[in-house]
Amino acid sequence: MLPELPENLSVQEKADLLENFNQEPVNRTVSVDDDVYRYLLKASVKEHSILKDIRAETSLYHMARMQISPETGQLLSLLVKMQNPKRILEVGVFTGYSTLSIGMAMSENASMLALEKKPMWLDIANTYIEKAGLSARLETRLGDAKVNMESLMQAGEMFDFVFIDADKANQLAYYQLAKSMLSTNGCIAIDNTLWWGNVAKDEFDDKNTQYVRQLNDFIMQDDEVDVSLIPIGDGLSLIRKIG
Ligand SMILES: C[S@@+](CC[C@H](N)C(=O)[O-])C[C@H]1O[C@@H](n2cnc3c(N)ncnc32)[C@H](O)[C@@H]1O
Repeated sequence: MLPELPENLSVQEKADLLENFNQEPVNRTVSVDDDVYRYLLKASVKEHSILKDIRAETSLYHMARMQISPETGQLLSLLVKMQNPKRILEVGVFTGYSTLSIGMAMSENASMLALEKKPMWLDIANTYIEKAGLSARLETRLGDAKVNMESLMQAGEMFDFVFIDADKANQLAYYQLAKSMLSTNGCIAIDNTLWWGNVAKDEFDDKNTQYVRQLNDFIMQDDEVDVSLIPIGDGLSLIRKIG
């Protein structure tokens, strides 16, 4: 039992306690069970009608789980409003929920390029981009994201905000390419960095879990960036390029 004030400890008692300091933080991130999750949605998520429509249409496809969660979309939107990036890149559009979360938040003098390899998904996303009146400033590009990013890099393109949410096998390559095109103080957001929690559990060692672990380890060792892995949705890593 600890005394109320550390001053009441002898020097030796304090030294002994500090030597055995348990590194695990006392105040940790709250666990989000179903009740807490519903409360979080009710108390904080203001979903735009276009985003609601995208979510409804996407729910008709069995791959709907690929879509970012509404609270993740809202966080991306808030980040864009706070950072006010002029040039935005997205990797992995799917039916456009994250694209529109970001696109509808950008300022009038900003523009966005969104990459996707499947025409079927891009057709759906483009319908909503048009509905939102963003076609002139939000370009979607069909094709392999890595090939497209390499061309953008060779062309000397720079971006202030990049959102990465495509195949996990190439996440590290997307991160490195995005970082090389990132302006100073620019931000990269990467989805799925907790990968359903599997990254933390030894019993999961499939390819995708390994890719996500590799990416997280790489970012953790990268002295050129600041990072925060936020336990929202499936885990969202926010990265800022230093200097
Ligand atoms: C997880 S989903 C993106 C979800 C989206 N951000 C949203 O909120 O709805 C991943 C997307 O990346 C696309 N994708 C996968 N590999 C790709 C590649 N090599 N190049 C471009 N897009 C790719 C998939 O077709 C899929 O639509």
